[in-house]
Amino acid sequence: MKGRQIFIPFVLAASLAALPALAATREENLADPIIGEENAVLADAPNVPPPIARDHATKVIVHIEVKEVVGRLADGVNYTFWTFGGKVPGKFIRIREGDLVEMHLDNHPDNKMPHNIDLHAVNGPGGGAAGSLTAPGHSSVFSFKALNPGLYVYHCATAPVAMHVANGMYGLILVEPKGGLPKVDHEYYLMQGDFYTQGPNGEQGDEPFSMAKAIDERPEYVVFNGAVGSTVGDKALTAKIGETVRLFVGDGGPNLTSSFHVIGEIFDTVYPEGNMSTPTHEVQTTLIPAGGAAIVEFKMSEVGTFIIVDHSLVRAFNRGALAQLKVTGEENKLVYSGKTSDLVYQPEGAGIQVAELPSNAPSAKSRAERITLGSAVFANNCQACHQANGEGIPDAFPPLAKSDFLNADKLRVIKTVVGGLQGKVTVNGATFDGVMPAWSLSDEDLADVITFVYSAWGNSGQEVTPDEVKAIRGKN
Ligand code: CU
Repeated sequence: MKGRQIFIPFVLAASLAALPALAATREENLADPIIGEENAVLADAPNVPPPIARDHATKVIVHIEVKEVVGRLADGVNYTFWTFGGKVPGKFIRIREGDLVEMHLDNHPDNKMPHNIDLHAVNGPGGGAAGSLTAPGHSSVFSFKALNPGLYVYHCATAPVAMHVANGMYGLILVEPKGGLPKVDHEYYLMQGDFYTQGPNGEQGDEPFSMAKAIDERPEYVVFNGAVGSTVGDKALTAKIGETVRLFVGDGGPNLTSSFHVIGEIFDTVYPEGNMSTPTHEVQTTLIPAGGAAIVEFKMSEVGTFIIVDHSLVRAFNRGALAQLKVTGEENKLVYSGKTSDLVYQPEGAGIQVAELPSNAPSAKSRAERITLGSAVFANNCQACHQANGEGIPDAFPPLAKSDFLNADKLRVIKTVVGGLQGKVTVNGATFDGVMPAWSLSDEDLADVITFVYSAWGNSGQEVTPDEVKAIRGKN
């Protein structure tokens, strides 16, 4: 290899290494003769049609039926989706560069709205929109020649365009390069979209579209494949260890850009923005613009559940932009060991044992005064985790408000605050598994803050005295 590279100019060698497949120029694709015809094989997400086996261009007939359907956006939340083919995202279309596509758009007679299709794979005004504007109960036909390979978004472009797109009218069309894409074990289709419901996230029932929220770009839901949880649990993507996975990822928008990421995976190859000529390698997160796409490829080196997210993480964990890829096989401890140790970490001056207690805490003369002083101790020491309203943070920090753990046993609470707590604890029916440190606070401060917490948020109102704290501390 070394000897050969001496004779190949560096630039040529570099570009050869980057080219995934042989692609033709626009002129060559325009001139490529059309041999025969076939009906397109279409697929619903997360599946894609099989790779193109042909070695010539042909006429591909594509039928897509627009349907306005009520479906699940989240648990207990229904939404009227406008769809290319009955689902969000629309049918995946797969063709080869040079193909002549005869596009049929059928608008179901039960629909209420006119629709059309703008394919980003088209070179022509509107991407086919004007040629396909179709009233309910009608069918339109236009054709285009696929001049550029790549992964392209298609969408409805009927006014108000943002509303048609926000209701789910988008999908992907792959124009394969002549040489095809490298063979992989699994190909999947994911498309992100932002949804604008009149009610807040999680409000149950039929949710109408909110144009005001769409204009403000404040989605209530950001999801993959048309619904919260569309691709998790028994609907997760699957692979085996050692297999290669290719994801065709689109972003329908209408507004948000996706920071696409698979937690615990590195993309071996990314075709940024869906282009076929300049793949990049070793990528952690790839940006997918609204109305754009990317292809990512990786080989599974470890088993487990890999979480697929928009790395604008509130969207993933609070708005729904989360999918799963489950990988089975034999785990490889060399690739990833899992947790091998969990020991108590005690930097100097901290930890369970407290040597020096501050002694300058003011001493309260009444329960009311104790509550006032305790409120300040709470703000300085407890509020960051347990929150100013005492509600805690789900799955992380237990609530103090109306807490059964607190109200059931005063001595246990003192012991917890004095000595710290590690491991599982159940509060109001929810289990928490974390660490609460032992607090380096005086008996007076601890009595004040516990009394304050008991006085607040519907708790039992008990008072705790410094002597009680001292007694517990003596037993620790
Ligand atoms: Cu439409």
